[in-house]
Amino acid sequence: MTAATRQEQLATIFKSATVIPVLTIERLEDAVPLARALVAGGVRVLEVTLRTPVAADAAKAMIADVPEAIVGIGTILNADDLARARALGAKFGISPGATPELLKAAAASDLPFAPGIATASELMQALAAGFDIVKFFPAEQSGGIKALRALAGPFPNIRVCPTGGIGEANAATWLAEPNVVAVGGSWLCPAAEIRSGNWAGITAMCARTMKSLKPA
Ligand code: 3PG
Repeated sequence: MTAATRQEQLATIFKSATVIPVLTIERLEDAVPLARALVAGGVRVLEVTLRTPVAADAAKAMIADVPEAIVGIGTILNADDLARARALGAKFGISPGATPELLKAAAASDLPFAPGIATASELMQALAAGFDIVKFFPAEQSGGIKALRALAGPFPNIRVCPTGGIGEANAATWLAEPNVVAVGGSWLCPAAEIRSGNWAGITAMCARTMKSLKPA
């Protein structure tokens, strides 16, 4: 696969998503019902973060049992994490930041990948490695939409998925920015709702969000 094809695959996934829930899964048994609840609410593109011991197995279970979900891996911190994501069948990878080692590994991999950036220098490193679709993280805390607009001056062709501080109240404002292809965040899957198995509540929140952000 060429780098351009890999990038376009990622763009297609992000555009189809509109919203990407950032999932932190503590118990393996929550993985499949959670993915089903999200899909039932119209949220199909999921980021499973490598932040818990069960994360990789959780992603594997979702991929096996919920084929309607498009499962990616987040919190990729190094080349080993990237290889793990690829091996378990993830459709894409996302990192909160980037190191030269990770960018090099991602450029050599055919896994669609969005490196995290928060500054012009980080963005320049991502672009130099061939990545023009980036995660802007932490978006609100790094200057919000004003910062994104400032970056769009020297870098008009970037495509961005902001995460960090995004929720129901400001997701639409971010999505109205011309270079924002999707928004990500943890607000659709609060830890308490997962812990209590409130799958119907998660489905309802997703359906409400998707209806307001992506009217049919
Ligand atoms: C992350 O990768 O941790 C996301 O940006 C989540 O941020 P949020 O919890 O503010 O949505």
